[in-house]
Amino acid sequence: KLPDPFQVPLPIPPVKKPLRSDAKADYYQVVQRTASLEILPGLKTEVMGYDGLLPGPTFDVRSGRTTVIEQVNQLDVPTAVHLHGGHTPAPSDGWPLDLIMPANGHGGHGHHMTGGNPTTGKRTYTYPNTQRAATLWYHDHAMDYTAPQVYRGLFGLHIVRDDEEDKLPLPKGDREIPLVIADRAFDADGSFLYPAAKDGPGVESKYMEGVVADVTLVNGAPWPVHEVDAVRYRFRILNASNARRYELAFDKGPATFVQIGSDGGLLDKPIEHKTLVIAPAERFDVIVDFSQYQPGDEVTVVNKLDQNGGVLRFKVARKAADDTSVPATLSSYAVTPRPSGVVRREWRFRRGNAGGHHGWTINGKGFDPAVMQAQVKLDQYEIWSFVTDVHHPVHVHLAPFQVLSRGGGNLSAYDHGWKDTVDIRPAEVVEVLVRFTAHKGKYLIHCHNLEHEDMAMMAGFETI
Ligand code: C2O
Ligand code: CU
Repeated sequence: KLPDPFQVPLPIPPVKKPLRSDAKADYYQVVQRTASLEILPGLKTEVMGYDGLLPGPTFDVRSGRTTVIEQVNQLDVPTAVHLHGGHTPAPSDGWPLDLIMPANGHGGHGHHMTGGNPTTGKRTYTYPNTQRAATLWYHDHAMDYTAPQVYRGLFGLHIVRDDEEDKLPLPKGDREIPLVIADRAFDADGSFLYPAAKDGPGVESKYMEGVVADVTLVNGAPWPVHEVDAVRYRFRILNASNARRYELAFDKGPATFVQIGSDGGLLDKPIEHKTLVIAPAERFDVIVDFSQYQPGDEVTVVNKLDQNGGVLRFKVARKAADDTSVPATLSSYAVTPRPSGVVRREWRFRRGNAGGHHGWTINGKGFDPAVMQAQVKLDQYEIWSFVTDVHHPVHVHLAPFQVLSRGGGNLSAYDHGWKDTVDIRPAEVVEVLVRFTAHKGKYLIHCHNLEHEDMAMMAGFETI
């Protein structure tokens, strides 16, 4: 039996403290371990968590300062950590075979993973944070097993801040709230249900399209409730679900979502949305103005793509002073015009034969870590076209991109700003402008429906 919604208070993931800092860097240690958490009231769920938490601790860092994280693997499976949206040198990018093997000597999943550069027990990741303020996230990226391991809890936020954003009169402190949305299914005893294939990686064939589940967690709590003042709040929304899309809306007006940022940080100017469509791995940074409600009002965020099922509820408690505003100009980043004569590449995302089994492919091939599908020169603009059969949220590592066109025409309301994940609808073509800088090495492009990803919808490319 599922709990009643809107009873559990919204948790806020704790901000991780560094062990030490010097002039250029902050040093942290995270332990990946199992923990028994009360997610559904009265039941225990065994999770795999960064520091045993779901979501993991939040990293709150400055643009241009280096974050060094020693990740200790105390689980009994291999892991790899990827900073999603990070401008990260290849050795720290979480290549799926750069595994942290369990220290206890288990091989983990029982088939060996060759190639890559595995370590045993721990691994140090270095993030230069050479990028603008943005809501990034980190999550597991282990070869073939990303989906079940993220599902069990290996995900958390990594927020980059900078001076440009600090100067804006936006809500701060406890009026700046992360909302990490993820759907999960539970067995009667509280354990997670995940329909893993019986004979190796991937899921039971009826879940080929991706795993969607019946309990909506926000910051790890089922359909939580949060008390707010009747003022503006900033919400950093991440869809950390394996495969589910949401169309978020308020059950009663007049509140809207005033979008100020996207995956890669601030927009140039705000965009007001009545509803917010968010695919797996996308982030929307929004301002919601609760001064339009009266103390005592309750307003519920629902998902219009799931029979208006609840996501979370706000209780407007009291009137309060508010000196924040949403400036008409947020950031001065240039919208890059479409350059002529640039390299063009096409990436076709299709169901197909992925290395001898049924799966998902890019340009006709399932992921092979030995094959680089493209060599991409640093510092050059390229126009990439993503072509789909069914719905796929496409993610590129290392550099953000700007969407140029969708379906041969204008952008959707959600395509603006710097993106690193773009949701491509069935039988659609989306063009993006991308440029990689600074780091040479092997990187990934893949579908961020995590079941598609594990079933091989991923390709390596090399920056040169
Ligand atoms: Cu968020 Cu390659 O992933
Ligand atoms: Cu996909």
